Parts: sequence; C-alpha cells; structure tokens
Amino acid sequence: MHGEITPPSDKSISHRAVMFASLAKGTSTISNFLQAEDPLRTLEAFRQMGIEINDTDKNRIIVKGKGLHGLSAPVDVIDCGNSGTTMRLMSGVLAGQSFSSVLTGDEFLLQRPMGRIITPLSEMGANIVSEKEGFPPLNIKGEPLMPLKYNSPIASAQVKSAILLAGLYCNGRTTVTEPAKSRDHTERMLNSCGADIIINDLEVSIDGTKELNPFDITIPGDLSSAAFFIVAALIIPGSEIVIKNVGINPTRTGIIEILQIMGGEISLQREHEVSGEPVADIHVKHSKLSGADIGGDLVLKAIDEFPVLCIASAMARGMTKISGAAELRVKESDRIASMSTELKKIGVHVEEFKDGLAIEGSEKIKSATVQSHGDHRIAMSMAIAGLTVEEETTVENTECVNTSFPGFTDLLDKLSVQ
Ligand code: S3P
Repeated sequence: MHGEITPPSDKSISHRAVMFASLAKGTSTISNFLQAEDPLRTLEAFRQMGIEINDTDKNRIIVKGKGLHGLSAPVDVIDCGNSGTTMRLMSGVLAGQSFSSVLTGDEFLLQRPMGRIITPLSEMGANIVSEKEGFPPLNIKGEPLMPLKYNSPIASAQVKSAILLAGLYCNGRTTVTEPAKSRDHTERMLNSCGADIIINDLEVSIDGTKELNPFDITIPGDLSSAAFFIVAALIIPGSEIVIKNVGINPTRTGIIEILQIMGGEISLQREHEVSGEPVADIHVKHSKLSGADIGGDLVLKAIDEFPVLCIASAMARGMTKISGAAELRVKESDRIASMSTELKKIGVHVEEFKDGLAIEGSEKIKSATVQSHGDHRIAMSMAIAGLTVEEETTVENTECVNTSFPGFTDLLDKLSVQ
C-alpha cells in the first residue's frame, strides 16, 4: 500500500455537532460532517423535531438551532437505525422535553442494553419505559428533571453524555464520575458552546438551564476509520502511507499506542488543533509486529479498534492477549464472539475469555468466506485480513459498513499498488 488518504470524518463528533447545534440558540455551521448512516440518523431525528438543517452542500451543513426548549414533538417514532450513540444521547435530550417520544432501532440495536442510561436518567426524574426490560424500543415521556450526582459503574461516553445532556435541563449542578476516562468529545463541545462545565479528572459537572451558543466546527478524520489503514500498512510488506487530518484526542489513541508497543512504525506529523480537538497526519510503515499483553486503560482508549487489532495480532509473532474488555460483548455485535468465530475461519488459533481473547500470531492466514455479524467494524477488519492472502476472501453482509464508512473499498483501492 502506498500513498496518501484522508479518512471519513469522526462519527462521535458528527453526532454531537448536530445535537449541540440543534440545541443552541442560533445558526451553527458544521464542516466535514460524516455523511454516513449513523450520524444521519441523529440529523434526521432533529429534523423530525422541527430543526431546520440545510445539507445541500454536503461538506458544510447549516443548522438553525432553536435553543434548549425549541424542539417540537416528533411527528413519528424516531428510528435510530444501528446507532447506539443516537439512542443513548437522544434519551438524555428527550427526557427533559415537554412532549413524549419513542426511540427504536434495527434488529441489532434492539439487542443492546439501555438500562445503563435508563437508571441514571430515571434518578433525575425521567419517565422512560422500555418495552423489553432494559432494551429498546424506549417510550420517553418528557418530565421536569432534577440534578444528579452519579457514580457510573462503567466508563462509557454514551452514558456520561446522556446524563450531561439531561443536566442541561436541570436547575442546578449535575455531576458524573467515571471509573476511567471515556472519550471527552461532549465535554469539549459543551465548552465551546459556552456551557458551564467543570472537569476534574474523572468527574465532570454541568450547571443546567443556560442556553448554548451556536458555533462553527470543522470535524477531523476518524481515528477509528483510519485504524483499518494503519493496520493494513503495518501488515502488508513494503507499505508506506500517510493518513491525513486524523483526530488524535488522547482518549481515543489507544490503537496507536498498542500497535507501537507491538513494534509498529507509526509517527504523528503536523500536530495541530482544529475546533478544540487535536489533529495530526499519521505516517505508517510496514513493520514486523510482536504479540503483546493488552489490558487496563489502553483497552478503553482503543475500544472500537478491537476487531482490527485482532487482525494485527493474528499477523504478529507470538501471542497477544487482550483482557478487561467485557464491554465488547455489547457493541454493534458481541465483538469477542464475532472475532473469535471469524478468525478461526481464516485459520487463526484463538482462545475466547469472558472479557477478551488470546490470539496466536501466525503471519500465515488462509482465505475463506467470512461474516460481518451485521457489524461494520467486523466487516472492514475481515477485509483487511483478506488483503494479506493470495486467494480471494469473501466478506458477507457488508451493507453495515455504510453506518460509519461509505467508500471504504474506494479508499482501499486508492492505496493499493497493483
Ligand atoms: C461512542 C462511545 C463508545 C463507542 C461508540 C461511540 C460515542 O461507546 O464504543 O462506538 O460516540 O460516545 P460507550 O460510550 O458505550 O463505551
């Protein structure tokens, strides 16, 4: 692989940009919004609630926010598709409205746990009824909310953000404390909207009822999408690539740190800040990787990159053990089980644990027909594995790639040396 690419825009930041722009009072401009299914679900949800969003210029969308109390009752059920971020963060917004709403999703989202947001939001006075005991669809009847001091049992940006969003509607200070620091895009964006947010290590507080200021934001490239190319360049002999304008928020850079520990030649160039987020170009060269023991905070900082990390581990010398990653069981698919099943199909020795995997590197994997499990990151990871095999690899059910990365194969083609 050779050349230079710019990855698609950051998915987490795209969701938040539309949410905060819709809740701000005035017109915001979002450049480089990710035009993929997941963030488009969030955008459509706000349109359904009366927010005018002009996206005729796909690179620069304009949102006419109506303030914290400017949303109107949605005309229909809000379909979050495959997007956990849409459902969990929107719950925080909808809990404090003066109308009722229903959130649903696709067959995969319907299997994802919502108790983690229902519990704290209910403590704030929210009225959220889950039709299937802790799972979507969610019926939300807007209620006046009270501030909360919440000690979250899990490090989750979706839980933290849902509570902070609900906190915007409370008279007083809402505080969330996490066991470890999850991604902080919500805090950074709230700060740039002029919200009264106080960050004290693992404790984040927001003082409610103050209107948010509109803003102009340029969204950086998504490190989670760049990760597929980082791993591809590392494992394909002779490769050297540059991935431009990638977000390197320190709560997200676990994949770079892990791959460097494994011997990957990865360097950051042109580090700078764009709209309150750190950004850099990532330079990657083919490297001989060695297995490693991965756990602790590094796992949280690379939580979405586990599937592609499994591919790097399969191509490394020696054993890689990933532990402390039980959250992977409740992502877009059960990613521990999905990767274990698919890696075995391509001839990799894997041992599955409750909270992780042990992968025996072999540098030689074989071709096969593999499955996405309806999970975009599994589909793309298995495609990267297929690049290292002479014979053809088929990945089935790849429509899910559109949730985060339409144009994935085009970018792969762009870097491929025939
Ligand atoms: C996300 C947070 C993470 C991540 C997900 C996106 C977000 O989930 O896995 O893909 O945008 O806030 P959790 O907050 O549940 O860990």
